[in-house]
Amino acid sequence: MTTLTILPEGLRAEVEAGTNLLQAILAAGGKLVSQCGGGAKCGACHLFVTEGRKGLSKLTPAENAKLDTLVGVGSKSRLACQATVLGTEAVTVELLGALSG
Ligand code: FES
Repeated sequence: MTTLTILPEGLRAEVEAGTNLLQAILAAGGKLVSQCGGGAKCGACHLFVTEGRKGLSKLTPAENAKLDTLVGVGSKSRLACQATVLGTEAVTVELLGALSG
């Protein structure tokens, strides 16, 4: 289990290793939309990982390709639907609201 912190709401949840980040955020009450059902296609689950990037699975080629098409992408960007919580370190994410997509 590892701690997931969700900004800006400041939500916290204990997440089991192997949990999909999008699912973990939704389960914790975070406001994140999935328009494509987690297929790295809509970009609506774009967020920033502000701490614990190493606590998440590596970027997939599909995720990289989609991120390339989004506005406001930075070095902390991930698509939540493509990231898995590894359980190795606590993770803090920042939801982007209107910025995403
Ligand atoms: S839910 Fe569509 S890209 Fe992640």
